[in-house]
Amino acid sequence: MAPDLSTTFTGVRFQNPFLLSSAPPTESESNIVRAFEAGWGGVVTKTIGLHPVVNVLGPKTKFLRADADSAHLSMKKRPGAALHSSWNWELISDKTLDWWVPRLGRIKQAFPNHALVASIMAGSGNDTELRHWQELAVACQDQGCDALELNLSCPHMDRPDMGSNVGKDKELVSIVTKVVKEVARIPVWAKLTPSTTDIVVEARGAFLGGADAIVSSNTFTSLPLIDMETLDFEVHVDGLVSTGGLGGPAILPLSLAKMSQLTQAFPDKSFSGIGGISTFEHALNYFLLGCGTIQVCTAAMLDHAVGPNVIRELNQGLARFLEKHADKGWTSVADFVGLRRDHVVAQSKIRRADEKDYRGGYEAEGYAEPVTT
Ligand SMILES: Cc1cc2nc3c(=O)[nH]c(=O)nc-3n(C[C@H](O)[C@H](O)[C@H](O)COP(=O)(O)O)c2cc1C
Repeated sequence: MAPDLSTTFTGVRFQNPFLLSSAPPTESESNIVRAFEAGWGGVVTKTIGLHPVVNVLGPKTKFLRADADSAHLSMKKRPGAALHSSWNWELISDKTLDWWVPRLGRIKQAFPNHALVASIMAGSGNDTELRHWQELAVACQDQGCDALELNLSCPHMDRPDMGSNVGKDKELVSIVTKVVKEVARIPVWAKLTPSTTDIVVEARGAFLGGADAIVSSNTFTSLPLIDMETLDFEVHVDGLVSTGGLGGPAILPLSLAKMSQLTQAFPDKSFSGIGGISTFEHALNYFLLGCGTIQVCTAAMLDHAVGPNVIRELNQGLARFLEKHADKGWTSVADFVGLRRDHVVAQSKIRRADEKDYRGGYEAEGYAEPVTT
């Protein structure tokens, strides 16, 4: 009998723990329908706002590739190069709430057993704007969405009270989460930015506001490289570029470090892991660190736009893994979530050669005691 891949996360049942993250793969009704038909357990919609956004001219996403036989990195397509990362400066959905509302309802009616999560974003600078968050939340849940994901992490918003600028401010994170929780009848997930010193601080803010889960990571703030021949950035409009977001294989270890901080600080809370996942081997890292679900963007974009081969491999990989460990009594993801969470420790806790001791640079090594106030 094939293993049961289903799982329950923040009270929502998923046929499998694999979701498409909020991005181009989930920007339209037809993509989401194709994604569910391909086998994704859930999707998070491209982030929905109240007002129309206008994107830059030209490509919004490019893929950086590495040569196998040299250190050359470039976005130029060439044979034999391996994917290093995605780089994007795409804003939230260019379709507004009114466009999304009937589509969310239709999708949910057609796929009642698939999880539909609405990603939402508004400004946060005053009470009127905070009410926009509530308007978005209510409209999406009224269409039957299973959960809400708060975009507190888009790295390319100019406004100080939007996207990752909210995610960098623990008070704003808390306030926005609380405001949405006031009207939400469905779970609320907070998607945080990795661009802070200690993501645990902002996660605490989200949990204080009542968040049911933390989602991490959104893309990492970055620039495209400069072309040696033209001296222009590999992505630019009229020679100009702004910072954008890095995703894909390059961010897998970075995002895992963020996730490890989060799950250690809040071992009893729920986490959805994103960043650089294209196979079950990658996803397993997030599960073992304490994530109950994982999400995929870059790998799906490069696989027929919604990742039919990616989700097939993820489902098969999980099924094989459960079969392999059946002797341990593992029957679902929940049986191995967090198993390696406590294996990430301070450097001084790692055994040294010849039983020598190291105290992490404290007085035993001749340094002064740290100042305590
Ligand atoms: C082109 C593009 C658009 C994205 N748009 C959104 C968005 O609207 N909302 C959001 O929360 N994240 C957005 N993301 C971030 C992804 O959901 C994801 O967090 C990130 O790409 C890391 O996952 P990956 O390594 O699998 O790509 C976008 C990513 C890309 C590449």
